[in-house]
Amino acid sequence: MSFDPTDIGWRIGRSQTPRGIELWCRYDRTTGVYGEQGSGKTLDLLAPALLAHRGAGMATLTKVDDLLLTAQRRQQPLTPGGPPRPIAVLDPFGAAPGLPVFVWDPIAGCVDPKVAEKRAKAFAAGTVTGAVSGGRQDGAARFYAAETAKVLQGFLHAAALTGRTLEHVLEWVANPVAADQPADILQQHPSAARFWDGLLSGALHGSSDTVGNTVTTVQQAMSLFFQPEIRARCVPTRDRPATDIADLIARQGTVYLLGREDPYASAAPLMTAVAEHVLDTALDAANTAPHGRMTPCFLACLDELPSTTPLPTLRVRMANERALGLSFIYATQTWKQMVVSYGEDEARSLFGLTNNLVIFGGGKDVHFYKEISDLIDDVRISRQTVSDGPGGLGTSRSGEDVKVLRPGDIRRIAERHALVLAGNAPPIIATLRRCFDGKQGRLLNAELDAGRRRVRAARAGAPDLAAVTADAVAYARANRLSPASEDDDRPLPADEELPLHRWLW
Ligand SMILES: Nc1ncnc2c1ncn2[C@@H]1O[C@H](COP(=O)(O)OP(=O)(O)OP(=O)(O)O)[C@@H](O)[C@H]1O
Ligand SMILES: [Mg+2]
Repeated sequence: MSFDPTDIGWRIGRSQTPRGIELWCRYDRTTGVYGEQGSGKTLDLLAPALLAHRGAGMATLTKVDDLLLTAQRRQQPLTPGGPPRPIAVLDPFGAAPGLPVFVWDPIAGCVDPKVAEKRAKAFAAGTVTGAVSGGRQDGAARFYAAETAKVLQGFLHAAALTGRTLEHVLEWVANPVAADQPADILQQHPSAARFWDGLLSGALHGSSDTVGNTVTTVQQAMSLFFQPEIRARCVPTRDRPATDIADLIARQGTVYLLGREDPYASAAPLMTAVAEHVLDTALDAANTAPHGRMTPCFLACLDELPSTTPLPTLRVRMANERALGLSFIYATQTWKQMVVSYGEDEARSLFGLTNNLVIFGGGKDVHFYKEISDLIDDVRISRQTVSDGPGGLGTSRSGEDVKVLRPGDIRRIAERHALVLAGNAPPIIATLRRCFDGKQGRLLNAELDAGRRRVRAARAGAPDLAAVTADAVAYARANRLSPASEDDDRPLPADEELPLHRWLW
C-alpha cells in the first residue's frame, strides 16, 4: 500500500537546522501565518496547501491573482477522466468577471432563530475592522457591533418568516428607527423567536447618540447591498439560483471569497457571513458523514483573516471542528490587525489555540517579535574562562542563559524562510518552496497568465462608464431633471449627434 502524505496533511517546507527534514502539517492541526506584505504567506504556504488539497475547501483572498493562481487547478478532476470539481466565486466588487459566480441568499434559513442570530453576528463582526483606525475605539466598535447584531437578527428573522427578500430588509435598514414592520412581525408571528421584538426595540430606542451610532453601524454592515450589482448577486432568481453549498462540498469543490482592503466599502461583513454559512454547511456534512468526520477533510484557507473574514466563531471552530475534518490555516500581516479585529483577549486565545505558528521575517513589530523570542525561551550554555595571572593559569566555569532567537534574529529571517513553532517541538527555521518554483511552478505561471487573459476579455465586455454617464444625463435632460441653464435654449450645433430617444418627450 502506498502512502501519500497529502492525504493527511499539507507541506510546510524543509527544515534548515537540523538540515533537510520534511515538514508537514496534519489536517487536524491549525496553522497561523504571520508575515508582512510580500513576505510569501500566500505563495509559499496558503496557495500550495490549497493546490495540493484533494477535498473541498474555502479560500478568502484580496487579490485577483491569488484567485486565478489556484482556480484552474482546483477545477481539474482528481483522477484522469473523473468529474471536474466545481468552484464558486463570491466577487462583490466584480474584480474577476468570467468565473463561476457564487449566488448567496442572506435570508435563506433565517426562519431558524439560531441561523438568523449567527448570520447577524457575522455581518456585525465584519464592521469592527472597517470601523476602527486605532486601538482606542475598538471597545466602542465592538459595542455597536453587538447592538447591530440585535437589529439585524430581528430584520433577517422577520423577513424569512414572511417570505420577504433582501430588498425588504434593505428598506428597513435604510431607516431602521422608522421601520415598524419587523417589530410587528416579531410580535405577532406565532413562529417568531420570543422576546426578539423587545431586543429590536431596545436597540433602536433610547439615547439618540447611541441609537444614531447603532443605525450607522447597521447600515455599514449592509452597505455593500446598497450597490445594485452586489445586491443582484445576493438575490437568487429563476435563471440564477442560489449556489448549493452542500452539493459543492460533496463534489470536493471550492468556494472563493474575494474581498479587497478598502476603507470605503469593506466586503468584510458580507464575506464573514458567507464564510460562516459555508463552514456550517461543511460541519453539517461532517456530522452526517458515515465516519462522523469529513474525509477528505475540508480546508479553510483564511488569507488576510482580520481584513477579509474576521469570523467571530473561529476560536471555537478551531478548538472543536478540526477533529471533525475541518482544517484551518489563517494568515495575517501583523499581530496588531488581529487585536483590532478580535480584541486583545480573543486574539490571544486564538493565538494560543493555534497549533503551528509560521512567522516570517521582515516585520517591524518589535513587541510581537519579542514575545515570540520569549516563547522560544532561552538556552543554557556553559562558558569556560581561562585566565592567566600572576598566580598562574586559572579556569572557571559558568552557566549563562541566552536567547535562542533574539527579536532581531527573527526580523532578519531571510526570504523564502520562516520560523516554525509547532506544538512542543523545538523552534525550526524552515526553507519554503514558492509555488512558482520548478517545472510545476512554470505550469502554474502559464495557467495564471491564461486566467488573467480570460478575466481581461470578460472585463472588456463590461459597459463603458462614459457611455453610461451620457445615457444618464440624456435621460435627465429629457425628463427635465437637469439643472436649468441658459445653454438649454441654445440651438444644437448641426454636427452634434444625439441618440433618437433623447428627443422623445
Ligand atoms: N506572479 C509572480 N511571480 C513571481 N513573484 C511574485 C509573483 N507575485 C508575487 N510575487 C512575489 O512573491 C512574494 C510573495 O508574495 P505573496 O503574495 O506570497 O506575499 P504575501 O505575504 O501573501 O503578501 P500579502 O500580505 O500582500 O498578500 C512577493 O514579494 C512578490 O513580490
Ligand atoms: Mg497574500
